[in-house]
Amino acid sequence: MGVGVGVRMNSVAVGLSRDLAPKRVMRAVAYGHDLAVWRDGENGLHAWDNRCPHRGMRLSHGFVRGDRLACLYHGWQYRKDGGCAYIPAHPGLEPPETIRAQTYSVIEKSGVIWVSTGNDAQGVDTGPVSEPLRSLTFFCAEAIARAAFEDTPFAGNLPQVESTGRLVAGGHPVAVLANPVTESETLIHVLTSAGVGIAAKKALSRWCEAARSVAERQAA
Ligand code: FES
Repeated sequence: MGVGVGVRMNSVAVGLSRDLAPKRVMRAVAYGHDLAVWRDGENGLHAWDNRCPHRGMRLSHGFVRGDRLACLYHGWQYRKDGGCAYIPAHPGLEPPETIRAQTYSVIEKSGVIWVSTGNDAQGVDTGPVSEPLRSLTFFCAEAIARAAFEDTPFAGNLPQVESTGRLVAGGHPVAVLANPVTESETLIHVLTSAGVGIAAKKALSRWCEAARSVAERQAA
């Protein structure tokens, strides 16, 4: 299965694994849903609706306590399955099962966090092209962002497009993963191979920025 230009998935790349440390929470977006993505104390990964069932506070502002995510506002704590485990204002109360955060299917593959709004987050196996290069926000539609990578020269030459959908820029393999945040904003994650040296990574990073300029000029 291809990984780059023009390929759509049942799951979307919401972030790079390296950007979410253990016991941390980050905000993300998948298919227009605002998410809180967090790692529990055993490094388990979770993706939830970014809304506390109590009064709607963003759970991405919360904090991790062992295997629970606690809301910043009134401190309600939620188990890994999304069910409410503890309400500080009523410490003797066993919270009803009906109080639970909306959970989504999430996995990690090729150094990327993938979320599905269905039951089966799969992600893409990018094979050896699994070294995170960088993430960038493009203020344009997904299709424009993807196409810009094909249309932006690297060291004077346009990149080649492989049958897998991957690109080869200046001899360096590149996977471009796109997350359409809105119709005019796209989050892009770029991967390359572990063997690519520092100087080449810097050059690829500048090429990504050039692609962003191309895309945003076209969208303007
Ligand atoms: S809004 Fe989250 S605990 Fe009250």
